Amino acid sequence: MESKYTLGMIGLGTMGRNLLLNMADNGFAVTGYDKDSKMIAKLKEDGAKHNLTAYSSLEDFVQSLELPRRIMLLVPAGPIVDSVIKELQPLLDKGDIIIDSGNSHFTDTNRRIADLSDAGIHFFGMGISGGEEGARFGPSIMPGGDKEAYGSMKAILEAVSAKVNGDPCVTYIGPGASGHFVKMVHNGIEYSMMQLLAESYDIMKNALDYSNEQIHEVFTKWNNGRLKSFLLEITAEIFLVKDDKGTGNDLLDMIKDEAKSKGTGMWTSQVSMDLQLPIPTINEAVSTRDLSKFKTLRVALAKAYPEAKPTAENKEQFIVELEQALYFSVITSYAQGLHLLWQASISYKYELKLHEIAQIWRGGCIIRAEFLEDIYQAYKKQPALEHLYADAGVQAKITEILPGMKSVVAHAAKSGLAIPAFASALSYFDSLRTARMPSNLIQAQRDLFGAHTFERTDAEGTFHAIWNPKKS
Ligand code: 6PG
Repeated sequence: MESKYTLGMIGLGTMGRNLLLNMADNGFAVTGYDKDSKMIAKLKEDGAKHNLTAYSSLEDFVQSLELPRRIMLLVPAGPIVDSVIKELQPLLDKGDIIIDSGNSHFTDTNRRIADLSDAGIHFFGMGISGGEEGARFGPSIMPGGDKEAYGSMKAILEAVSAKVNGDPCVTYIGPGASGHFVKMVHNGIEYSMMQLLAESYDIMKNALDYSNEQIHEVFTKWNNGRLKSFLLEITAEIFLVKDDKGTGNDLLDMIKDEAKSKGTGMWTSQVSMDLQLPIPTINEAVSTRDLSKFKTLRVALAKAYPEAKPTAENKEQFIVELEQALYFSVITSYAQGLHLLWQASISYKYELKLHEIAQIWRGGCIIRAEFLEDIYQAYKKQPALEHLYADAGVQAKITEILPGMKSVVAHAAKSGLAIPAFASALSYFDSLRTARMPSNLIQAQRDLFGAHTFERTDAEGTFHAIWNPKKS
């Protein structure tokens, strides 16, 4: 059989099919493989007018690809990726490239890179964001792995990615599993932003007594300003959707208040703990999804600790402050995610270029937002910037919105409204701008009960004190 296809996709579910159709739209000859004949039929039907085909035999699929082969996997993360690689590997040649485009854990990607490199096969961990729509019409793409091998995929990825001001939302992220790592942190920020929007909704609903329609209007108005973002836009739309089961209610009001997750947010928090790089607002978002599942306990405790219904006196002023609080906390969510990337780049030698990451997140992905342009400019000007708060432009914005942020957190705290993400964003900021923290007391405590020693402000070295001579 003559080799003729430029790229092959394994896994023809919605994401794989859509990405393949996107490649075909852009003039690439592509092919797919799936064990499920229905998936093959669906791809052939949707791509009838394109230069694409699909196989149910893995051998035929592999033989149909030009060398070096570019084989993309869009299969569920976990053991399925390993079993696909196991079947595929004997059919491949040195120099071929496997690209795992699922949300795999970066440590699995590290292992797969090492396993395949002995056989001369390049393994790429590549994050793709933008959901089904993004895959079909332009996602944000985060590929990491061997830089030379990236050269043979660059043209395809740039063509299919989203574009912002003509720039493709894809760049070579860095070596090793950096692509999957960056996608994981993208999802951590996604969790945080979703939680902040949920808390904003709760405040408007419970402190301001706003109807769903009013909340829709507020979110829509904000989305026309500096908070403009994909998540805010889709959130605003949710408030107008009616239940189609004949209840006459808004669909949102018929949905259980228990949130699920697939794990990428949790991984971000776990890694941040391993690297000892705090991302408390992202952690709160992850924990609050978990906390939401304790419904029975929550219902019981709501009865045990009743709270008077909160009210805000001046609703118009409150909305102004809430917008400021949301903007502050969104900035903080990005700042925490980027700080984690800054640390990972050092710890894992990823050589990340944070301005390029901000650049490719401006379009196609779930966390795309107007503010990413500011982030992009900040890191472009100062590639070694340790923290976004230290950028002069961001500092000016924070100084302006801080009063609103404080006011919202104080009001919610007094009213007994749960605002885990908002409150943590403010405390995180306040800790980071504290020149002398009370951590000297922690050191004193550690030394008192465990002789763990401490460092002095006026001399080098470690010291131990006899804290209570009478007891010793
Ligand atoms: C994206 C999304 C995508 C997926 C999340 C959902 O960037 O396109 O992040 O990867 O929708 O993984 O995650 P949870 O199921 O954990 O909310």
